[in-house]
Amino acid sequence: MLMRRVGFLLALLCLAGGPVRALPTDPCLEPGSDCTLRELADLAGVRIGAATQPALIQGDPTYAEILPREFGSLTPENQMKWVALRPDRDTYRFGPADELVAFAEANGMRVRGHTLLWSDPIRIPDWVSAIDDPVELQGVLDEHIDTVGRRYAGRVDAWDVVNEPLEIFGPPVLRDNVYLDLLGPDYIAQAFHAARAADPGAVLFLNETQVTSRAKFDALYALVTDLLAQGVPIDAVGLQGHYLTGFNEPAPGFLQEMVQAFADLGLLVELTELDMPVTPLTPDRLEAQARSLGRVMSECLAVEACQGITFWGFTDRYTWIDSFLAPGLIPLPFDVDYQKKPAWFAAADALRARAVGEPALLGLAAILGLGCARRRA
Ligand code: G3I
Repeated sequence: MLMRRVGFLLALLCLAGGPVRALPTDPCLEPGSDCTLRELADLAGVRIGAATQPALIQGDPTYAEILPREFGSLTPENQMKWVALRPDRDTYRFGPADELVAFAEANGMRVRGHTLLWSDPIRIPDWVSAIDDPVELQGVLDEHIDTVGRRYAGRVDAWDVVNEPLEIFGPPVLRDNVYLDLLGPDYIAQAFHAARAADPGAVLFLNETQVTSRAKFDALYALVTDLLAQGVPIDAVGLQGHYLTGFNEPAPGFLQEMVQAFADLGLLVELTELDMPVTPLTPDRLEAQARSLGRVMSECLAVEACQGITFWGFTDRYTWIDSFLAPGLIPLPFDVDYQKKPAWFAAADALRARAVGEPALLGLAAILGLGCARRRA
């Protein structure tokens, strides 16, 4: 009798599309299986992605083969930014962004749009920063979001609508830029309204970097709750995740606490730009990197609202870190020769753990050999 009741409850959960997508009976979920990150993410029901550039896809066949095999999602690293799409007021250059969207579609990948508005003043085109009339600036901003959002509607499933609105380091206040100066803090809300109108189907993100301190989290949380209270159509928070291994990682437990806090507001969360450079002085640095990366991924994926993880690149052969910090800090899960690093295996384990699920009842289902994924198959 008890078993029948449990079975009935499980059937209901399965029909409702319960949170567990796979059971340990799937060969990919065996520790040490050679399944790809993409296969594991599919089993876990989450996005696994990488930032990329057309030149790499066109110029390196090995790169172009591994990218769609291992990742089910891509983010244009630079090609959808204002400076790339909009060299001047009257010119749109969609070519490179279109190429990436076409590559994604040809390979059944999702696309994260990045980004409709970047608050970093040095990333705002000079011709925009030179505008001194608020009405004109609002018009330019609305027109840009409308044009880009409509062009990719239905092809980009998520947008980083506003990128890095807070100061990176120092007091976590809104960044000083032409938008804040002329339009006030409402420029953020207006950008989300414009994005929703342009592409009603896209998941709209506020994407922030270096949220590793309590002060920065508090500021981000206050900003997001304020937007929600105003009825602003924000669906998700992106935590970028450029963490220097052993130095500016979020303290153990803190990332999960942050993700849970946003989940409790009804929002989705993704790690949108994960890479973890590691210095040559770090003892056992490949293992140290793997431990940190696995922990960070696990803390996000422990919360159901954490719906995806995107690496900022995927191979140490091509990474912005080489020019921005120093060469040789090897921040990604594949090495320069496309071999899987310990970080890759840590990522795979984190996805596997999510795939087998946390909720107790469904854990019981696994023990009993009953499976929603199998039933749906
Ligand atoms: O396209 C020009 C090329 O014509 C020129 O010859 C070359 C000379 O340096 O520069 C090329 O542009 C560079 C561009 O990347 C494309 O490679 C820019 O100088 C360079 O500043 C730009 O850097 C990008 C940076 O954002 C600024 O847009 C990085 O690749 C990209 O990884 C980085 O990504 C950001 C995210 O968008 C937001 N979060 C932080 C993250 C890391 O900074």
